[in-house]
Amino acid sequence: MELGKFEILEELGRGSYGIVYKARDKALNRLVAIKVLHTNLVNDPSFLSRFKQEAQIAARLNHPNLVPVYDFNEADGNYFIVMGYMGGGSLKDLLNQQGPLSYERALKILEQIAEGLAYAHQHEVIHRDLKPANILFDETGKARICDMGLAKLLHSDSTTSMSASSGLVGTPAYIAPEVWEDSPATAAVDIYSTACILVEMLTATPLFQGDSTPGIMLKHFQQLNLPNNLPAGWKPVIEKALAKTPGERTKSIQELVASLRKVEKNPIREKVFHDEVTNKKRSAVLLVMGGLVLVVLLAIMVLGRGALIGPGLPTVEPQAALEPKHRNQPTDCDPNPTPH
Ligand SMILES: Nc1ncnc2c1ncn2[C@@H]1O[C@H](COP(=O)(O)OP(=O)(O)O)[C@@H](O)[C@H]1O
Ligand SMILES: [Mg+2]
Repeated sequence: MELGKFEILEELGRGSYGIVYKARDKALNRLVAIKVLHTNLVNDPSFLSRFKQEAQIAARLNHPNLVPVYDFNEADGNYFIVMGYMGGGSLKDLLNQQGPLSYERALKILEQIAEGLAYAHQHEVIHRDLKPANILFDETGKARICDMGLAKLLHSDSTTSMSASSGLVGTPAYIAPEVWEDSPATAAVDIYSTACILVEMLTATPLFQGDSTPGIMLKHFQQLNLPNNLPAGWKPVIEKALAKTPGERTKSIQELVASLRKVEKNPIREKVFHDEVTNKKRSAVLLVMGGLVLVVLLAIMVLGRGALIGPGLPTVEPQAALEPKHRNQPTDCDPNPTPH
């Protein structure tokens, strides 16, 4: 299948805006990802012009931790955005396949996300829909943020939003409380979502879950209940990034990373305990320790018994002490009297 100068190779997935394909730019002979917009979106001319505007802003962002936007185009009545192809899959895929990541790996990915996000925030672009599915890995394994700045388009037109997705800006599990309250979004919403992603990297489970969208929404307003197995030093840092009001939240994404790095320098023992000693390992350690205690107790019992019954048993020393006496004073019943 062809789309303008692009050869469509395969479908990569479907999202709020439409279908994403892996494609080859025939002119430049390079792989790209093409997001073809839903027909119901392109039927709205105001949406199209706003989308084009946002695509232009996204295309001006140039950072190694952002997925590059190359073009916004139309061919055969299809409107599509052309991006760099990320061959390493998404963070969502990674967590589904590998489960929880080590603290080192999670921190490394977080640092890469933070670099891209800080750059976007400096250029006054807010993501608003940060989630593991929007963190993609390039072929070198570097994390890059996808869909930068595009989420607000679905938000600003509620009818489009309703028809295009579930009617929400962003994805319920990662939406900051103020967004639910319809307050203007600031960079703080991205910090909140990033903290949700961080916890999810360590647990492979979304921090805020529920059976329904209202159920999940409620969780964002209830008292925060972080999983127990987070490194204790990280907890207050994550709690601050997940503050319910933007004013109390960590001020910048760099501050979040710097605070984690700071705690990271010290808590080796605590970290090792939480990171490496899983429940299984802890049980094994207890079992070995229990075994050792048992061996020591048995040894004490055996030695103690030896001490108690010792005088009744023939030992070398008393025998040796008696021997010369018997030899020197032979009795009648001595079968081998010593000759004098
Ligand atoms: N630039 C890209 N390179 C490779 N895969 C991509 C790219 N952009 C999106 N995808 C994949 O396409 C799927 C749909 O993406 P998207 O429409 O952005 O969904 P969502 O609305 O959930 O973010 C996702 O599974 C994502 O992994
Ligand atoms: Mg996406």
